[in-house]
Amino acid sequence: MAENSLSSASITSNLETRFMGQRVIYFPSLTSTMAVAKQEAQQGAAEGTVIIAGEQTSGKGRMKRTWVSPKGSIALSIILYPSVVYLPSLIMVASLAVTHTIEAVTDLKSQVKWPNDVLINGRKVCGILIESQVTGNKVDYAIIGIGLNVNLKVSDFAEILPFATSLSDELGKSVSLLEVTRRLLVEIERLYLTLPAEESIYQEWRESLVTLGRKVRVRWGDTTYQGLAESVAKDGSLLLRHSDGSLTKIVAGDVTLGD
Ligand code: BTN
Repeated sequence: MAENSLSSASITSNLETRFMGQRVIYFPSLTSTMAVAKQEAQQGAAEGTVIIAGEQTSGKGRMKRTWVSPKGSIALSIILYPSVVYLPSLIMVASLAVTHTIEAVTDLKSQVKWPNDVLINGRKVCGILIESQVTGNKVDYAIIGIGLNVNLKVSDFAEILPFATSLSDELGKSVSLLEVTRRLLVEIERLYLTLPAEESIYQEWRESLVTLGRKVRVRWGDTTYQGLAESVAKDGSLLLRHSDGSLTKIVAGDVTLGD
C-alpha cells in the first residue's frame, strides 16, 4: 500500500538536504499554500521553508485560474531568497525537479510544456506557479508553488478531465505521496544549488520542452500570437517565429500546441 498521508515530521525526518524542506508546515486542508507562504516569507521564514497541504480549497493557478488540488495530490509552496539574476531560472529548477522526481519514483517519462506545465503522454500532471516580490535589484522573496496530481482519479473531476492526468492514472496503481514529496525537495535543492555554476540547467530544460519545433498559439492577456516555437532564451522566454519571418520574444503566456 503506497504511503498516502503526510506530516511535517515524516517529510523532514532524515531528509538529505541542507535547507530545502528542513522546516515544513503541514496543513491537512488549506485555502492555498501560496497565501501562507507569502505571509511566512514576509516574516522572514528560513530559506527552503515548505508549506504543504493535504488538500487546497482555493488552489491558485496561473492567469487567475483555480487549481484543483484534492486529497491525493501534492500542493506545496517553497520559500526562497535567490539573487535577482537567478529569478528566471526558478521555473527551470522547478520543472526539471518535477520531471526527475516523476522518473525516479515511477519510471514514467514526462515533458515540460513551456512555460511551466509538466505533461505525461500529452496530458498535464503538474502545474507550477512562481511568485516573487522584488524591491529595486533585491528579491524580497520568491515562492515556488507546485501542484502535482499523484493519487487521483482524474475522471472524478470533470473540470480537468479533458486535459489532465495523474501518476496513479498513468501507472494503474497508487504512488507514495511521501516519497514523491521528499524526492522533489532533494531535487529542487540540488538543481537550485547548481545555478551559480558555469554549467547551468538551461540546456537540459530546453531539451525537455515539448513545445520547441511545434506550431503554437500563445495567449497572453488579450493578445494571441501564432507561429513556430523556435527556441527559448536563457531568461526563460519563448522565441516565436511568425510566417512573415519576424520573431517575437514572449515572457509568459498560455500555449496551445499544434503540429
Ligand atoms: C498552473 O496554473 O498550472 C499552476 C498551478 C500551481 C498550483 C500550485 S498547488 C501549490 C501552490 N498553491 C496554490 O494555490 N497554487 C500552487
